[in-house]
Order: sequence, then structure tokens, then C-alpha cells
Amino acid sequence: MSAQQLRDEMVRQLIEMGALRSSHAVAAFRKLPRHLATPEEDLATAYLAEHAVITKTDSDGVQLSSVSAPRIQAMQIEQADIGPGMRVLEIGSGGVNAAYLAEIVGKDGLVVTADIDPEVTARAEKFLPETGYDDRVRIVTGDGEHGVPEHAPYDRIIVTVQAADIPPAWIDQLVDGGRLVIPLRMRGMTRTVAFVRDGERLVSDGFELCGFVPMQGAGEHRVRLVVLHDVEEEEVGLRLDGHPEPDTEALRAVLRTPPVEVWSGVTLAGDESKEHLDLWLTTVFDNLPLLIAKPAARACGLVASISPLGIPTLVEGGSFAYRTVRPTEDPDRFELGVIGHGSSAQEMADRMVEQIQVWDQEHRSHHAHIEVYPADTPDGRLPAGRVINRRHTRVAITWP
Ligand SMILES: C[S@@+](CC[C@H](N)C(=O)[O-])C[C@H]1O[C@@H](n2cnc3c(N)ncnc32)[C@H](O)[C@@H]1O
Repeated sequence: MSAQQLRDEMVRQLIEMGALRSSHAVAAFRKLPRHLATPEEDLATAYLAEHAVITKTDSDGVQLSSVSAPRIQAMQIEQADIGPGMRVLEIGSGGVNAAYLAEIVGKDGLVVTADIDPEVTARAEKFLPETGYDDRVRIVTGDGEHGVPEHAPYDRIIVTVQAADIPPAWIDQLVDGGRLVIPLRMRGMTRTVAFVRDGERLVSDGFELCGFVPMQGAGEHRVRLVVLHDVEEEEVGLRLDGHPEPDTEALRAVLRTPPVEVWSGVTLAGDESKEHLDLWLTTVFDNLPLLIAKPAARACGLVASISPLGIPTLVEGGSFAYRTVRPTEDPDRFELGVIGHGSSAQEMADRMVEQIQVWDQEHRSHHAHIEVYPADTPDGRLPAGRVINRRHTRVAITWP
């Protein structure tokens, strides 16, 4: 297949998935020869809708840079709602996404693309002239934590790296009413959130689960893995993101003891996402890190469920309980339940199942709102809900 045929097929899939919707974005994805940015990959791979090309990994195996998958780029561009003539700042560069943005903003717009890594901006400096977009793109090497004040204000800011916080520059450099799209990590799970600036606060207008490489520089803030079972192929652990230090020895011991199971009667369609349920559980429980396990850990019965994004797990003392699913008589539906280990397992699993039922009855049809306030905002000015305190901001998750 030719590059154009591969592009057309990629666009067809992105439209079918619901990732591409607007005519400007469809035209940009149909036009850009993105394979020129990844000469090390074969042509067809460059156009796989779900495939990110990893371009840099650190000595611990943590991925530091990539050309994001077309689906993720399309999703963020649609969330940002970009139009001709706009000024857009991209944090985290490489060239491909900046070229899509440049095509959409047109000759009257401006794209500023910043990356902390000079090897990444060097890739953009090669790709953008090659594809003819260098006239309206400024490439900046530096820590995006500070934004790029010399070209501000921006109508849109798109962050393409996982962030645990929102530094003041990203709000100050955005016009009031402008949109900030950011893969924001909240208690271990990352969602790309579309925010609208309303004075000094940001108000969400939709979000989707996603995976991104972690931020480096002044805003670096990594999650921590506490290992509960360290046989390499069957590793099981808890991913902590500001959660209290667990009693690791006690949890390691109970992982191997027979679990309790409690079922909720609440079912999901096979292709239905659990992301809104998980956000509800994060809202109501104080200490809910994420269970991370390798496929072999499930195969040998150590855990009942696995997910690369992690599974919400209630931890109290030497006991823990996590959500799971089991098949029902309807082959297309699964029942939600909870597996618990430890002396408080039954009571904790009961409480978690009760909250699965509350989500089903009261919140399933209305998604959460996420609002971001400056760190010095007093409690009384925050909406009622779960508050995640970071260095620069207080992130409030509320439910209608
Ligand atoms: C997923 S890649 C960006 C993908 C790119 N937008 C594309 O066209 O597909 C994330 C990038 O963020 C960069 N990055 C990490 N921390 C950063 C920071 N503090 N400021 C600017 N860039 C940063 C990394 O070097 C990496 O290249």
C-alpha cells in the first residue's frame, strides 16, 4: 500500500473509533506524511492508529519520549477544539503533532512546540521543514513547566506528557475561556482532561483515560511501586501516588491467603469502560492505590484481574480489597465485584461493593466534573468532593 492509502485507512479507523470528528482535523490527518518522522519504522507501522513509536527510554526502562499514537493525538486535538488563526502551545514535542496543529491553525495561526530534550527538538527541526510547516511553528528547547512566555497568550495549550500538577504558567499564558488539554494524573491514573480557563480556575469539559510518558524537569513527580510479590514474571505491586505508606510486609503475607469475594449485581457491557466507576471509587475512598500485576500473576491465581492502567485497591492496615469482574449468563456482560485479602477483607469488600452499587444507581449516567484551583484556595471556596492537593494546585473531583 502507498503512504496515502495507509493514511486514508488510518483516518477511516480513527473516525470509526470516534477519535477524529472535525473536518479540519480529518483533513490534517489525511495530508501529513507522518512516516517521515520515524524513518526507523516501516511505513505501515507509522500509520497504525494505536501504535506509539518509542524514541527514547532511560536506563531503568522508563519511556521518556515517543511519537504518540495517532488515536491519542486525534483525541487531544479534538478535545482542544482548535480552529484556523489560533495560537497554540504544545508542551512535549517531536514534530508530528505540531504539524497537525500547524495544518489546522493555517497561515494566520501560530504553533509553539517545546521540549526539554534537545534530541527531541532536533527531530522536530528536521521534520517540520521537511513537511513545509516551519513558517508557522516555533520550536523551543526548555522545561515546559514555565510555558513559553515570549509567544503568550495562547488560545489553546496541549500538554503531551503526563503531569501530576498544573504549573501557574500554563494558566497565566492561556487566554480566559481558552482550553488546556492535559494528561493529568490523579491518584495514580492518568486522564487527558480538556479544561476551560475561567479566571484563576480551570473547569473540565470532558476527559478520557490514556497513557503518557512522565514529565521531567521541575515538574517531575513520579509514582512509586511497592512490590507485594517479587517473582519476576508474576510480579504484583501497588502503585502509590501520594498515598500513605502501606504495611508492605503484612500485605505481602495476606496476598497468598485465600481471598473473600463479594458480588454487586451491577453489570457492565464487555466493551464498557470502568473509568467512571474507578473515578467514583477514587472520590469516595481515602486510601485507594492501584494494583499492578503481570499476566502470569493472574494465570497462576495470585490475582483475579489485571490492567496495565492499574486496578483501584482499598488498603487499610494489613488488608486490601480490589475490584474485579466475573462472566454472567449473558456473554456480552460482566458482573462487578470485589476480592479481599486479610483480616478486614470481608468488611472492606462489602463497603467497596456498596459504593459500586451507589455509582450504578446515582452516578452512572452523569460523569464527574474536575476543577482546578490555586494551591492557596481555602477549603471553603472549593466545591464539595474529593480534593487532591499538589504543589501548585488543588484538584477537586465532584459529581452532579
Ligand atoms: C509523548 S512525547 C511527545 C509527543 C509529541 N507531542 C508528538 O508529536 O507525538 C512527550 C515529550 O515530553 C517531553 N517532556 C518531558 N518533560 C518535559 C518538560 N518538563 N518540558 C517539556 N517537554 C517535556 C519529553 O522529552 C517527550 O519528548
